[in-house]
Amino acid sequence: MSVLGSAAKVHDESRQGEAFQQPVMGPKPFNRRFYIESYGCAMNFADSEVVASILNQQGYGATTVVEEADLILVNTCSIREKAEATIRKRLTEFRRNKEKRPATLIGILGCMAERLKSKLLEEEKLVDIVVGPDAYRSLPSLVEEAGAGQKGVNVLLSRDETYADISPIRLNSNGITAFVSIMRGCNNMCSFCVVPFTRGRERSRDAHSIIAEIEELYRQGYKEITLLGQNVDSYYWLDEQLDQTVNFAQLLEKAAQVSPELRIRFSTSHPKDITDDVLFTMAKYENICKCIHLPVQSGSTRVLQLMNRTYTREWYIAKLNRIREIMPDCSVTSDLIAGFCTETEEDHQQTLSLMEIGKYDLSYMYFYSERPGTLAAKRYTDDIPEEVKKRRLAEIVELQGRLSTESNRKDIGQTFKVLIEGDSKKSDQDWVGRNSQNKSIVFPKAGHDLKKGDYAWVRVNDYTRATLLGTAVQM
Ligand code: SAM
Ligand code: SF4
Ligand code: F3S
Repeated sequence: MSVLGSAAKVHDESRQGEAFQQPVMGPKPFNRRFYIESYGCAMNFADSEVVASILNQQGYGATTVVEEADLILVNTCSIREKAEATIRKRLTEFRRNKEKRPATLIGILGCMAERLKSKLLEEEKLVDIVVGPDAYRSLPSLVEEAGAGQKGVNVLLSRDETYADISPIRLNSNGITAFVSIMRGCNNMCSFCVVPFTRGRERSRDAHSIIAEIEELYRQGYKEITLLGQNVDSYYWLDEQLDQTVNFAQLLEKAAQVSPELRIRFSTSHPKDITDDVLFTMAKYENICKCIHLPVQSGSTRVLQLMNRTYTREWYIAKLNRIREIMPDCSVTSDLIAGFCTETEEDHQQTLSLMEIGKYDLSYMYFYSERPGTLAAKRYTDDIPEEVKKRRLAEIVELQGRLSTESNRKDIGQTFKVLIEGDSKKSDQDWVGRNSQNKSIVFPKAGHDLKKGDYAWVRVNDYTRATLLGTAVQM
């Protein structure tokens, strides 16, 4: 087991099913080891890479073997009650490890740290260190304090921390695709959502540091970058030296210009903020992938208003039409919540009918989970019985299954440019990669001299539920 590389376990809802891969890293002498598990969204995963970088500077190398770690970190998610319950269970298991190796320190990072503050440390005595998403620079000193028997807590939120100057250490990297954070926090206040409370105010990262990070990744051989933020379309940064502002469309263009060989993706777009400028920039550059994650949450205008999403059903449909008018080949994916406060059967039917209109290629689907402190928790009663929420969610899931199948069926006979990410999960005789629309495509290696990181043209001839199957062709 090498201690040179960074390694971590990822529990990322948006990347479910992705293979765990060994890290790619240069040599460096480390005298202590940390183990990190990440839960929640891609932003948490990207934050773990910032944390790895901060710890590397302090002589900590990563390990995937929890028993040999001097420091166990869990980067946590508070988005739904179930996420928190899973993490608590895991912390209890780690606590048992500590009994065997008492010098090991256990820390929680991320959104649960922010939400529960010192509760896990003081009342439940589950952890030794609690660090909120804006306080990772203080992690080394908190580890030292905890090592000396004090409490290591810092959950201060910041108005300007973006970790712009920290070069993330890539964790679980396939060496081909990487996340780059472009902003932090969220100002939107969707009534169901805990993120504005756990991540604080929205702030955009220095555009020069973003482009420099992308250029460096490209030099290292990466071929696909995903620009990350809770609401990327509201990216806005003032270059004080040039007295110029940079909006998301401009940042996207700069990123696309790093190299035509480097693919650019982004996530997440709030429907109210994605502009024609962004759509035209996407259309202009072949290397900006034609895929937009455009969460709708509900198809009912009445529910959308209660959710404080600031758009109506009609407005959302008009946005979908605009996307398809400008980029007919663009895939659209969504997030959906079943059983929000006061949701009627009619509201639910409206969600199903909007999904049919949206023809989503993929959706992340949840039933509503009330989060303490949110606007919805304060203003509305969580009045939909759990069995009704679950039944509505099952209907949403079933419909999405049909829509994804229809979308895949339409791809049969088409040829796509695929970025090869590695061996397919089922067989080392097959490659797996993704097309611009972000669909996974598996195809045989035989008969071609292709390698990981290459682009291949692949004709689709079949599909499974989640994957297209094809063969490489000459173009
Ligand atoms: N900022 C992104 C957006 O606005 O689409 C993503 C937000 S969140 C990290 C991902 C998804 O979790 C949301 O789009 C929503 O569908 C879901 N979600 C958030 N809060 C929830 C809650 N209280 N109950 C159920 N699902 C929730
Ligand atoms: Fe949460 Fe809404 Fe912000 Fe997304 S845009 S993180 S759902 S408050
Ligand atoms: Fe979870 Fe925090 Fe992301 S609550 S979804 S880890 S922003």
